Amino acid sequence: MGRNFILLGPPGSGKGTQAAMLAGSLNLLHISTGEILRGEIAKDSELGKQAAVYMDKGNLVPDELVFDIVEEVLGTNKKAGAVLDGFPRTKRQAEMLCEHDIDIEKIFYISVPTEDIVRRLSKRHYCEKCNKVVTYDDEFCLVCSSPMTVRADDKPDVIRQRLRVYHELTEPLVKYYEAKGSLVRINGVGTVAEIHSRMMAALNKKDNKAWGFDNT
Ligand code: AP5
Ligand code: MG
Repeated sequence: MGRNFILLGPPGSGKGTQAAMLAGSLNLLHISTGEILRGEIAKDSELGKQAAVYMDKGNLVPDELVFDIVEEVLGTNKKAGAVLDGFPRTKRQAEMLCEHDIDIEKIFYISVPTEDIVRRLSKRHYCEKCNKVVTYDDEFCLVCSSPMTVRADDKPDVIRQRLRVYHELTEPLVKYYEAKGSLVRINGVGTVAEIHSRMMAALNKKDNKAWGFDNT
């Protein structure tokens, strides 16, 4: 079995950015439930149609639906190991992961103040073709030159709802995993490279503490 990690944090905290880097550094799969669901919406599949009803409003897609997706991807790549980005997101999803004997080495909780989150998300653009995500206003993708676009759920009222849902349903997982002793707090403010270095530094330590804060 490969090594598995979870990236936990509010919308816009940099989960996707850091998950891609961590997966690249450790040669693991990057599994983003948000990306998979947006892919299904783009394909106009039955799953995509069901998911869009929730995602467009900034609400969570039902646990069972999301768990089936994760189980399928993990099941077909058992040996690879993965960085789970945006999953689990509810206590029920965390319990489902536990029930399926999926061993998680560490949970990185990326902490970012709300004002930074709102600023980041209101500036986020991405390329539909190659998935490159940026916060500045590039008109065309630097990788493939396709036009950049804005994510459907990055509208101010939907961002606010995503944050509400995060505080109500996902934030309690911080205490849940802290009690299990496997959570590492990472300061998510700084450059992308700095945050990646904090995560890499935490990787080889047996004790789980906080990285990148004033007193660490
Ligand atoms: P999902 O796609 O997971 O969205 P999210 O959690 O709201 O998080 P984001 O993807 O918006 O942000 P991020 O933390 O990945 O940050 P990023 O790296 O992009 O989920 C979307 C929806 O799908 C949910 O609302 C729900 O409906 C559904 N869903 C998904 N998973 C589900 C689940 N498990 N259960 C139920 N429903 C589920 O960075 C953000 C911006 O900041 C980017 O522009 C980036 O370039 C920039 N940035 C990154 N790092 C830095 C930095 N250090 N400094 C400055 N800018 C930075
Ligand atoms: Mg993301």
